[in-house]
Amino acid sequence: MTIRDQVEEQFRERFGETATLVVRAPGRVNLIGEHTDYNDGFVMPMAIDRAVWIALRPTRGREVTVHSLDFDVTDSFGLDGFKTPPGSGAEIAWIEYLRGTAWALAEAGHALHGWEGVMAGDVPIGAGLSSSAALEMATARAFAEAGELPWDVATMARLGQRAENGWVGVNCGIMDQMISASGRAGHAFLLDCRSLEGRHVPLPTGMAVVVLDTGTRRGLVDSAYNERRSQCEAAAAHLGVSALRDVSSQQFDAREQELDDLTRRRARHVISENERTERAAQAMTAGDAGRLGKLMNASHQSLRDDFEVSSDALDAMASIARRTPGCMGARMTGAGFGGCAVALVHADQARVFSEEVAAIYAAETDNEPAVYVCTAAAGADRVDRE
Ligand code: GLA
Repeated sequence: MTIRDQVEEQFRERFGETATLVVRAPGRVNLIGEHTDYNDGFVMPMAIDRAVWIALRPTRGREVTVHSLDFDVTDSFGLDGFKTPPGSGAEIAWIEYLRGTAWALAEAGHALHGWEGVMAGDVPIGAGLSSSAALEMATARAFAEAGELPWDVATMARLGQRAENGWVGVNCGIMDQMISASGRAGHAFLLDCRSLEGRHVPLPTGMAVVVLDTGTRRGLVDSAYNERRSQCEAAAAHLGVSALRDVSSQQFDAREQELDDLTRRRARHVISENERTERAAQAMTAGDAGRLGKLMNASHQSLRDDFEVSSDALDAMASIARRTPGCMGARMTGAGFGGCAVALVHADQARVFSEEVAAIYAAETDNEPAVYVCTAAAGADRVDRE
């Protein structure tokens, strides 16, 4: 039974009627462009075929009531008078992502309608595949459909990010919400995180994207992420620009001696990663999987050595992937310190590749891997009734 069937069936069982709406929003994997979004730079994620689904019906009341099949809990919140955000550091319950999205929509002046629904998803939680952005964008979509709100991708993604920053207390950039809102089947999305304009870029034919979960976790709430952000801001301030996006490699080469060693390495990662990301989009447009793979490898090296957000588990996973037949390139993906790597693999070898990498990784480390061969999916949408 699909997740969609499950939420629809459970809705009927709990509410005695058929849901009038079904919405979904996907998780994502970032192919390249890491730790560039909060530097106004370029990213190239794709939405994956794993998503959060909500079956719902609008109500006349001022409440939202949701049953989560994954947590087997029903919870609700009112749409008038949002209390203080739970804030960072607190253990955040799943309902807060919905409440925070409602809060961000309401603050932006949207008139919200109540609804009741059943929710479930298959984006692994905390693995770095943006289960929280999927939850925020599915919630935004539910409110948009229930209250006939205009759906502008960038506006809604910004509100999802606002929920995450201002309610949940995680200081993330815009990448995850943007790709969850705007993915297209078979394509990655080259996004300019300053203008929020993007271009859908087709994945090279004959290639599969394989997500390799190291089985290790380190939350985003972590101070290391905020520390990297501050270091990037310090570098930009020193170089006299509003964000590192405004510095080219040539400009950086001419002035890098002015920066202390740590700041120099942080800036070098961001500046080179922006350029790699644009080159990766060109390689994809040209169907050059070999070039794309090399850029992914270079991205990992830069994240490991200059930005220092990799980990032993991520390094092991990326290097095992690279030496396994079929692999064109592999790198850590997402914030880092744990979570997933991503590999570009010949599609006809993807199954065997996945089994081999998982077996070698399990034997070489003490961790339990999980492997997902992913296809690029559409962004948040309302699914029409069958
Ligand atoms: C997390 C954040 C994103 C981005 C990445 C690093 O996934 O949510 O906004 O900063 O880390 O590229």
